[in-house]
Amino acid sequence: MFILKTESLTKKYGSESQPIYALRDLNMSVEAGEFVAIMGPSGSGKSTALYLMGGLDRPTSGHVWLRDKDITTMNDDALSKVRRESIGFVFQFFNLIPVLTAVENVAMPLILDGVPRPQALERAEAALKQVDLANRASHRPSELSGGQQQRAAIARALAAKPAIILADEPTGNLDSRSSDEVVAVLRRTVDDFGQTLVLVTHDPRVAAHADRIVFIKDGNIVDENRLKGADRAEQIREKLGRVAMSEG
Ligand SMILES: Nc1ncnc2c1ncn2[C@@H]1O[C@H](COP(=O)(O)OP(=O)(O)O)[C@@H](O)[C@H]1O
Ligand SMILES: [Mg+2]
Repeated sequence: MFILKTESLTKKYGSESQPIYALRDLNMSVEAGEFVAIMGPSGSGKSTALYLMGGLDRPTSGHVWLRDKDITTMNDDALSKVRRESIGFVFQFFNLIPVLTAVENVAMPLILDGVPRPQALERAEAALKQVDLANRASHRPSELSGGQQQRAAIARALAAKPAIILADEPTGNLDSRSSDEVVAVLRRTVDDFGQTLVLVTHDPRVAAHADRIVFIKDGNIVDENRLKGADRAEQIREKLGRVAMSEG
């Protein structure tokens, strides 16, 4: 049973005479508890797809279903409620508040959402534990490595217990060791906590941890795969190369 599904999802930029389709009739479905990676050349519509799935932007046409709810027909208030309660976002840049400690950063959205401070901090600590960062709770972002900062940002997304995490190039700004650390933590939230995860990446080593890889080009799916085997990252790299070279 899907938890998230796009139906003929289309996003058009540009003018009537020169339209640019960021997405064109995208049909994609994500199962509950699944880790899906989205890959594709730069400008293929990956971020647009993720933002529309999370209700951060509105499509030109088509639909996004979150379980039985069509989020594309919701008004702004209903949509922002869905975003707060059901979607966790992780971006390439961590956007942590420099003057707050890790645990305060993680608690902040909960506090803004009306959770009393002691409970918010308690939940933030649990979320930091989930990403192996309990021992850095009172550190400020500047006292954390890039990988640790991203894990704090992931904890912030997890703290609200969202049904779905949407991550746009979460390792794009990290060295390979930090990147491994971050993807391991994300993989574990899926395996141990039943989290649903949709992650955009250009890194085959990161995508190799996903259950399924969706390759997009020119705003639509060109391949879908559950590559298996020890040389998975290599297979993904090859496939990505073929997708990039193929005629649009
Ligand atoms: N705000 C915007 N205005 C105009 N064109 C945009 C805008 N956002 C994205 N695009 C275009 O839509 C296409 C897909 O962009 P994007 O989803 O960011 O791709 P990706 O994340 O795969 O690199 C690109 O051609 C991009 O230039
Ligand atoms: Mg992008």
